[in-house]
Formats: sequence, C-alpha cells, structure tokens
Amino acid sequence: MYKEIIRPILFKIDAEKVHNLAIFLGSFLGKTRLSRLMRAKWVYKNKKLENKLFGIKFENPVGLSAGFDKNAQLTDILPDVGFGFMEIGSITAEQCFGNPKPRVHRLVKDKAIIVNYGLANKGAEHIYKKLKGKKFRIPLAISIAKTNDCDIKGDASAEDYFKTLKIMRNIGDFIVINISCPNTGDGRSFEDSKLLEKLLKKIKVIRKSEVIFLKLSPDISNKNLNQIIKLSRKYKINGFVISNLSKKREKLQNDANLKYSGSISGEPIREKSDNLIKKVYKKTKGKFVIIGSGGIFNGNAAYEKIKNGASLVQLITGMIYGGPAVISMINKDIVKLLEKDGYKNIKEAIGKNVN
Ligand SMILES: Cc1cc2nc3c(=O)[nH]c(=O)nc-3n(C[C@H](O)[C@H](O)[C@H](O)COP(=O)(O)O)c2cc1C
Repeated sequence: MYKEIIRPILFKIDAEKVHNLAIFLGSFLGKTRLSRLMRAKWVYKNKKLENKLFGIKFENPVGLSAGFDKNAQLTDILPDVGFGFMEIGSITAEQCFGNPKPRVHRLVKDKAIIVNYGLANKGAEHIYKKLKGKKFRIPLAISIAKTNDCDIKGDASAEDYFKTLKIMRNIGDFIVINISCPNTGDGRSFEDSKLLEKLLKKIKVIRKSEVIFLKLSPDISNKNLNQIIKLSRKYKINGFVISNLSKKREKLQNDANLKYSGSISGEPIREKSDNLIKKVYKKTKGKFVIIGSGGIFNGNAAYEKIKNGASLVQLITGMIYGGPAVISMINKDIVKLLEKDGYKNIKEAIGKNVN
C-alpha cells in the first residue's frame, strides 16, 4: 500500500515538508502511545537476530541512521516501527538552522536522495533537557557533529565537538562522532587526523565507560583511513559507522534535481559502503564493531553488509522509498538468509565474506 498509494502522493510534495510531516505524526503517535497498536504488524522478533555488544542488547540489527530524527522527537515511536536501535542527531554544540532551503531532493530513478541539510538541529542543551532521565525501549545512539559555522575551525572545532559530547554523554547507549559530514558551510569534514587526535585526547581525559564510534565517509582515501584506524586503536574507539553520504556523483541517471548541491544517499552508495566495510573489517581483523549503512532497501543488502563485517546496519533512504514496513521485511529476510546459510544466529554470519 505504501509504494502504490502513499508514496506517489508524498513524492509530489517537497521532500523536507514530507520529512517534517513524518516527524510531526511520528511524535504525536509515539507520545499518545497510539503507535503501540502498530507493533503487531511492524515488530518482528526472532532469536536468530539477537546480539549483545558492549553489554547492550539488540533485539534485531536494523537501526535508524542519523539525520532523520535530528531533534529526538521519535524515540517513543521507533521501537514500535520495528527498529532494533535508533540514532538521533547529528547534534551540535549550538543550535544550527542549516543550509538555505530547498535542501533535500529525491533522485527517484536512482533510489537516492540529495541531502544538504547542513546539520540543522536544536543544539545539545535543548536536546539534553528533553531526554534527561528518559528510559528508552531500544538502544539509543547519539550522533554528534561540529556546529555548522565556518568561523569555528582548527582547535575550536575539537572544542566544539567536545562540548556536545560532555553534554550528551550520559544519554543513551553509545556515541557516534560524525567526522564525515559533507554538508557544512566550510565544506570540510573532521577526518583530518591532527584535529581528530586533539579531540580524542580531550575525550580520553574525561572518558568513563562511554562506547564511542566514528562515522566515516564512503569517499575516504586509503591514507586517511589508515590514520583513523591507527588513532582509533590508540584511543580505544569501539567501532565505526560505515558510511555517511557521498560527495561523488558517479553513475547517476539524468534527473532535473541534479542541479541542486548536496551529497548522495541510497542505492548509488550501497556498493561503496559495502567495500569500505569489508576493507575496514579486514584491516582491523574484526576488532572494531562496524555499523553498516548506505543503500539498504531489502534483506539482501543488509545481509551483504553483515557478511562483509557489519554487526549492525542502519538506514534512512530505504524507509523513505519502501515505507516503515520495510524494517520488518528486512529482518524477516535476514532470518531466511541466515537459515539458508545454516547459521543459528546473526553473530555467526558477521564478516563471513572476508578471508
Ligand atoms: C535526509 C538525511 C539526513 C541526514 N543527516 C545526517 C546527519 O545529520 N548526520 C549523519 O551522520 N548522517 C546523516 N545522514 C546520512 C545517513 O545517516 C546515512 O549514513 C546515509 O544516508 C546512508 O544511508 P541510507 O542510504 O540508508 O540513507 C543523512 C541522510 C539523509 C538521507
């Protein structure tokens, strides 16, 4: 019904307006607990999907990626949609209004989105106050990023990330440091290893038992990747989210929306993300937990990332194109694929494509 009736209507409306509508409805249904009525249809449970990482229990491996629930308005409804975990943000130290609109565009033929939000969010203090003391029904990840302000650079950038981390670190189950946001005003990410080390040093001083991931770009160079892995070993980073949006626009089909700036999600980045997951898993001999994201529209795509080394997967674009029922469909398909390969639990499949 979503693909045949709802999507054609939604896709006639500006993409950011539809996003805001989804947030409004999702937040309302979650708060009023009406979303619990949908659980029977949308939540799929199976022991084969369960995993425990860093003491955190994941009932299934499919999460919501950062960028959909920027201001943590959906934490009540997401467990009822069937997700195994959720990531909010990216959150920045100061409130960001983001880049000028329009800043989200669909590339329907490519099953992709051009994203140019520029880290629009209400800022760490606001989101912290809202979530303080709240219990969550599924694991929660906090994505933090640098405030989108070109005047914050160099050491001040490390300070800016650090401020957000200090505010948010007691909320949720793990932190993802988004060092690869492609859409900020200065057009730079935080993959510069000197700056990253400054931040990781600061974190080391105050760190207690926080579980910390770094989010990587699918466009990362080999040299940069090696530097980041080296730093991650030194500063005991727990894992990587692979990958963020891509700045590259190779092999896209002709579309009027290509005139807009921004970075690409969805099907065009699936393979790149798969390859990077495999590369990192191999280089690190599976020592870091990987969360795979990029172009997951079905169980096969999720399972490929798992066999390449991902312990968990995440998506946004797949849900926009496939509707919320896609989450249970992916989980059901993963179970079928695990059974076909003779695995009793998802843990046995992780990294099986890597030799
Ligand atoms: C509308 C939109 C907004 C996004 N905003 C963020 C963000 O704020 N922080 C972040 O780390 N990634 C952000 N991303 C990237 C996603 O988290 C994800 O890594 C990427 O879209 C690949 O997954 P997908 O192909 O399933 O969408 C955004 C993606 C989309 C589509």
